[in-house]
Amino acid sequence: MKRLIQSAAIGALLILGASACSGEDAGKAELPDDRFLAIAHRGASEYRPENSLPAFRLAEEMNADYIELDVQMTKDGRLVVIHDEDLDRLADDPEKVEDLTLDEMKEIPFGDHFNEKHPVNAEPEYSGVTFSGLNDVLSELGTSINYYIEIKTPDESGEMEKAVLEALAAHDLIGEDSVKTDEEGLPRVMFQSFSEDALLRLHDMRPDIPLFRLYSFSDDAVLPPDQVERIADYATGINIPESSANKDFIEAMHVHGLKVHVYTVNEETDVKKLIDMGADGVFTNRPDIAVRMAEEKEEDRS
Ligand code: G3P
Ligand code: CA
Repeated sequence: MKRLIQSAAIGALLILGASACSGEDAGKAELPDDRFLAIAHRGASEYRPENSLPAFRLAEEMNADYIELDVQMTKDGRLVVIHDEDLDRLADDPEKVEDLTLDEMKEIPFGDHFNEKHPVNAEPEYSGVTFSGLNDVLSELGTSINYYIEIKTPDESGEMEKAVLEALAAHDLIGEDSVKTDEEGLPRVMFQSFSEDALLRLHDMRPDIPLFRLYSFSDDAVLPPDQVERIADYATGINIPESSANKDFIEAMHVHGLKVHVYTVNEETDVKKLIDMGADGVFTNRPDIAVRMAEEKEEDRS
């Protein structure tokens, strides 16, 4: 059962500041306030191989608000779901994603890596898990879950962003000029990237889809005001590492109308700490925990 929230009210609060048209001054997408999001990082990746169909299915069963998935382009210009630029870590293979076709990647098993790293949750069947195309994931899960897509290693052509948008439209997750929403009013799709260029290209094409600028900080998160103002022009929020999260930063982002999602938060006490700090959501390998904490937050408010 999905979270008990006032669906209609939240739906009404999903304000798309963006008009249907693209281009300059098109505004940006806004999200409902006071909604703490449980985002399954690479799926429920504590329990099943990361970025795999089994991990995404489990995240859906756990009622995560979103599955986060990393997307890259293959040699034949198709979209594959994988975090790394090569297969070294996951499949003990030095080949690069850009040198493989999607069909080749779909034949490569990588679940042994998970079984070795997660002996408690290991299962023999995970050994045979292979890489998936973005289209495979969208076909399999459809509108049973929402998608928080990370654009990894984009080139400057914009072809990758266009291909992702085409796939989303083909699966009825975005309309011609407005993103579809779930029964609770949350957008079916959001994007994040470390590449501001990729986000700006997406904003130009689809200002109705929420965008999040990814940052990594070695210490406490802090950004110069002019940079924050620039980001606030096109992005719905900023995503930062757990180790850098602090109340002052989160409050400052809120003043600029930016949400803050924090990665990657796997312990209950840390999720609670971030809720108390005012964060708007967490990426987590353990979505069951974050969903429960978010529900408790909502119960406390009602
Ligand atoms: O969701 C934030 C996170 O996905 C960025 O880090 O390395 O896990 O893609 P990474
Ligand atoms: Ca990611």
